[in-house]
Amino acid sequence: MRYACTTLAGSGKRLSQIGLGTWQFGSTEWGYGPAYDGREAAAIVRRALELGITVFDTAEIYGRGRSEQILGAALRDADADPQAIVIASKIFPVLPWEPVVQQRAVASARRLGVREIDLYQVHQPNPVIKDGTTMRGMAALREVGLIGEVGVSNYDLDRWRAADRALAQACTGVPPVVLSNQVQYSLVHRDPEEALVPFARDNGRLILAYSPLTQGLLSGRFTAGTAVTGVRTANKHFLPDNQRAAAALIDTVRDVAATRGVSASMVALAWVIRHPFVVAIPGASSVAQLESNVAAAELELSPSDIATLDAAAASYRPTTGWASASALLKETARRRLRRS
Ligand SMILES: NC(=O)c1ccc[n+]([C@@H]2O[C@H](COP(=O)([O-])OP(=O)(O)OC[C@H]3O[C@@H](n4cnc5c(N)ncnc54)[C@H](OP(=O)(O)O)[C@@H]3O)[C@@H](O)[C@H]2O)c1
Repeated sequence: MRYACTTLAGSGKRLSQIGLGTWQFGSTEWGYGPAYDGREAAAIVRRALELGITVFDTAEIYGRGRSEQILGAALRDADADPQAIVIASKIFPVLPWEPVVQQRAVASARRLGVREIDLYQVHQPNPVIKDGTTMRGMAALREVGLIGEVGVSNYDLDRWRAADRALAQACTGVPPVVLSNQVQYSLVHRDPEEALVPFARDNGRLILAYSPLTQGLLSGRFTAGTAVTGVRTANKHFLPDNQRAAAALIDTVRDVAATRGVSASMVALAWVIRHPFVVAIPGASSVAQLESNVAAAELELSPSDIATLDAAAASYRPTTGWASASALLKETARRRLRRS
């Protein structure tokens, strides 16, 4: 395993550059079912610990709390050392007033069965309410030791900085920072490279890269025209036109993988964690997928591999914005018609 150059300031805990995303646990939208929630999820967590994963990401909204419960139970069953692991959860900021933030963290900690949530993140920026009240809640939670570090998710740089200022204002003593920003980052979604990645690099912060495999697209398993179900029906990169547009990029990922004798998923993940301050948090539907994802931490891409992948990524031009929203609606209607 490879570990990020930034540790958790308070506890000094190390962050594995490949973490485990657990949206899949207890969530109906992935469609994995009770056998996954009851057995496979625990096996994935156990194997993740054996392989040196320290970062486990969940959220109160995943499976309406089920993900936190399943993860907490699996970590306990596997005798995970609380001093060595980093549990990251998220509050969904509807009405994020100070007492609400505190009450929701208490509920998350109870579902996880932990005394402290190592990294407590705001799941997305509230479009109406600024971060002052949220960060006052976070400051109170830090003071009583219910949370370690504060993070955000899906924040642009201005809002990340504003959250930083709000947290500093709410705290007494040495002002803490909003340590991390969890954002979508992969070969098909490189927006964070504009401002967030340089900010994290220059300021000792962390990027948690979600959907680093673009929900499996970059594994190369989905060829243009593959019908998708569940969560992928809402992902623009699985629209037929975008699957066709991504074919050249995926071929390139496969080619690099073939020359290195590894899988396409490993190449896609190794590309994300080439920055030492980025932690990728892929989800997994099986222990085998988890093992393959962990192996990506041992893969060092060469500068020429990276240049080849960058060029292929730059040539992928997906349909986005209103065009992709309307295409997703049309595609959903077409699927419904086919089923009826
Ligand atoms: N903050 C946010 O707003 C936000 C948003 C999304 C996700 N997240 C977090 O990020 C985590 C990961 O993101 P994600 O689940 O959206 O996308 P992802 O990690 O890119 O994709 C995960 C899916 O890809 C497939 N897969 C995983 N490893 C594979 C391998 N080695 N080979 C082939 N296929 C593989 C599996 O699906 P199949 O086996 O079904 O193909 C798996 O469920 C989530 O669990 C969650 O913790 C956060």
